[in-house]
Formats: sequence, C-alpha cells, structure tokens
Amino acid sequence: MSRFFSSRYRALQPYVPGEQPRDQRYIKLNTNESPFPPSPGVQAAAAAESGRLQLYSDPACTELTNKLAGLTGLRPEQLLCTNGSDEALNFAFMAFADEARPLAFPDVTYGFYPVIAGLDHIPYEEIPVRADLRVDPEDYLGIGKTVVLANPNAPTGLCLSLEEIGAIAASNPDNVVIVDEAYVDFGGESALGLLKEHENLLVVQTFSKSRSMAGARLGFAAGSEALIGDLNALKYASNPYNVNRMTAAAGCAAIDEDAYYRANCARICENRAWTAAALEALGFQVLPSRANFLFARSPALGGEALYRELKERGILVRHFAKPRIEDYIRVTVGTREQMKIFIETVKDLIGG
Ligand SMILES: Cc1ncc(COP(=O)(O)O)c(C=O)c1O
Repeated sequence: MSRFFSSRYRALQPYVPGEQPRDQRYIKLNTNESPFPPSPGVQAAAAAESGRLQLYSDPACTELTNKLAGLTGLRPEQLLCTNGSDEALNFAFMAFADEARPLAFPDVTYGFYPVIAGLDHIPYEEIPVRADLRVDPEDYLGIGKTVVLANPNAPTGLCLSLEEIGAIAASNPDNVVIVDEAYVDFGGESALGLLKEHENLLVVQTFSKSRSMAGARLGFAAGSEALIGDLNALKYASNPYNVNRMTAAAGCAAIDEDAYYRANCARICENRAWTAAALEALGFQVLPSRANFLFARSPALGGEALYRELKERGILVRHFAKPRIEDYIRVTVGTREQMKIFIETVKDLIGG
C-alpha cells in the first residue's frame, strides 16, 4: 500500500476472483462460466461494432434496453444496463443502503457482497443460513434492513420460492430487497413478475452465465421507475458510458437469439443432473442445485484436498476456506465430455 492511499480504503478487503489461468491446460470448472461460446450472431455483432469504437457508446443503451423490455415485459424506464451485474449490485448498495439502513445477507452467499459493502462503507449483518445451508426466509421477515439475496444462492445453488421472496419484500416496505438472479436461467423462478406488486423490489440479472458473455461484462437491474432513476443518478455520476459498444451490440444479438441460449441452458441442466447422480454414486452429498454449478462434499476427502488433487490433474474447481462450507467443492457444470473427465478423475482420487 502506498503512503498516498486514501485512509477511507485502507481497511478494504478486495474480492478474490476464481483463478483465471492464462494457458488452456485446465478443464475450467471454477468460475461458473458457460462452456459454450456466444451464438454466431453475437460474435458477428461484436465484430461489426468494433469498427465504430472511435465513438462513445450510447449512455442510455437505448436499443438494448428496448430489447430487454421486450424480453422481460417491463417498460424501458424500469431497466438499467450495467457493466456486469457486479456494477448493478454496487450501484444498488450505494443507492439503497447506508448507516441508517444497513445491509442484511446470508453468511453463505456471493463473496462480493461484503466487499462492496466495505468499499461503500455500509454496515452489514451476515445472517447464518440453516444447518442444511438453506436461507431461512423467516430471518428476513420485517428485518428493517436492505436485504440482498442471491436466488439461486451461490455457492449452494439452493432457492427460495417466489412466495418467500414476495413475503420478504412485503414485510420490509421501507427497505429495498435486492434479488440477485445471476443463475436464474438454470431452472430458477424469476422475481421479475413480482415487481408490479412490490415497489421496493430490485431484481439484478447478468448475461455472464446463461448467455455465455462473462468476458463482455453485461448485467442489468430491473425495478420501479423510481428505483431505476436512483441507480441512473449514480451511473451518470460515476461512469455514464458504462456499457461499451461491442457489449451492447452483443447483448442485443443475444436477446434476438434467445433460443440458442435456452437450448444451452437445457443441456447444462441435463449435465448437472448427470453429474449430480454420478457424484452421489461415489458417496458424495450433493445439494439440489438450480444453478450452473454443484456444491458437493465427499466423506472420503476434504474440500481443500479435493480442490488441490483435482488441480494437479488439470481440473479447476472452487473451494472456499470458510467455516461451514470448507468440506465442499463448487463445480461449474460444463459439457458432458468435461463432466465425464471430472467424474473419472474424482473416481481415481477417492478409489471409487
Ligand atoms: C451470485 C452472483 N451474482 C453476481 C455475479 C456477478 O456476475 P457478473 O458481474 O459477471 O454479471 C456473480 C458472479 O459469479 C455471482 O455468482
């Protein structure tokens, strides 16, 4: 740390992203990316737009926002496009939480939440999940804090029902409830349909996972016109051109080619079921995931050892050295070929 670093950020604990090796030596099942490339139309749209990079992008993302409105059934004023959903989350934390309205989120969830809270100097409460690692919706009823829930949750893949999300929003009328739906397209239920009933609900989604665009950085927030107006105030105060031209064009093409992505999601869901069954046959306990990853533990080998041994054999998975979940590994669901190699390697490792 330099002696010039602002005292406001000295205590910052940065987020540690999953490994991104520069070589392709690994089967990469560690950061919940899609194993499938973007659709041909997306690649063509991004390439075509590259010839116009001398021009700033449209700060309002008009075409993309209109397409998203068509996709979600919302009005364009209810949508804000962002540089990955991480940016939407950051804007939402800045906009809707402060000393008087601290954040509340589960102790087992997306590790970026406490990091953003630290960056924004927002106090937060981490609410323990139940022994079965499920979020207990009762804990959030009338909590009087700005609630953040990943649904499906990460890294567990477990879901709350829409009734439970609706009840949490209804019981906290003076706080915003942020639902992070990064993984909703793999069998979850979206809370977008609840927006008309709850003015305090904000839904955040991403193109990183189901739409194979993690490297393009595109997410969006959806909510009432007033909430989106607040987020826009922060966007225009920090980075008005937050979505670049190539990404905006790629996003439009991805929405046009929705069928391609739905088919890929269906394949991932099939591979998830196949992998879960294979792990269970090897004695693993596997949580019932509705995301593009599995969270599993083996009675034969601890999470850290599994992670290390798999890495040595060319397979990257994610391990979290955190109390309550240190026995588990999180495995992104890839192609069937990748999952077969993963299972064969695990079999060798634990002598199954
Ligand atoms: C629960 C959750 N939310 C949000 C994100 C951020 O995704 P992105 O910024 O790529 O849209 C992730 C990324 O892994 C995630 O797991």
